[in-house]
Amino acid sequence: MDKHRDKDIEYVKKGYSLVAKAYRDQKDGEYSKLPIFLEWLNHQNNQGQILELGCASGFPIAKTILEKQRNYTGIDLSLDQIILAQKEFPNWKANFHQAEMLEFCRKSPPNLYSGIVSMFTIRHLPRIYHVELFTQIYRLLTEDGLLLLDFSPNSDEGRDTWFADLPMYWSSFSQEWMRLTFRELGFTLLKEFEDIKMFNGKEERTIYLLYQKSKEKESE
Ligand SMILES: C[S@@+](CC[C@H](N)C(=O)[O-])C[C@H]1O[C@@H](n2cnc3c(N)ncnc32)[C@H](O)[C@@H]1O
Repeated sequence: MDKHRDKDIEYVKKGYSLVAKAYRDQKDGEYSKLPIFLEWLNHQNNQGQILELGCASGFPIAKTILEKQRNYTGIDLSLDQIILAQKEFPNWKANFHQAEMLEFCRKSPPNLYSGIVSMFTIRHLPRIYHVELFTQIYRLLTEDGLLLLDFSPNSDEGRDTWFADLPMYWSSFSQEWMRLTFRELGFTLLKEFEDIKMFNGKEERTIYLLYQKSKEKESE
């Protein structure tokens, strides 16, 4: 990876390790009840292996998936977050791994996961890596596999303070950029849901996207 941008990733890693327990304690997990999440999880095309990118302590996404006895792998940049997840789900310790998501995807074999989910995480990856990450996700999904992700449509990147006044790195693209990029990569949009919430006294706009790896691109 680019050495300069690695610094931003290291910055994020340090931040999430410092607030691992506090971040876990304030989570409400409400978004795991959203219809768009349940549609991704229960979709007939997503009955095989599941990968979560940026699983943190495993709450709420891993918890919901593991309760259904599904085949799950969760990875996170921060070892402290992974240790929390392993303590919270001792029977599934081996399902949680410390890894940087783009590196992990690059090393993984193709067509492996029927479902990939990443919540509130890709916004911490430097923007120069977004297209490669989405390309890798496409490669890792089984034919007709499903991707669920969120983004904040501000089209911005840089460092700012965050939860517990911790310095943090953020990245995002516009809604139009996301729409065009995913279409160009061969994904088909199945559903979109917009949510507006208060976080740390600020209004946060989140767009959830449910994509399917479409067959058309493969047969082109
Ligand atoms: C805001 S938290 C979200 C955690 C969880 N997905 C949730 O919904 O609660 C972002 C998580 O992504 C992880 N993360 C950030 N950048 C990452 C990267 N490049 N690779 C893997 N994990 C990353 C952080 O360590 C952190 O645990």
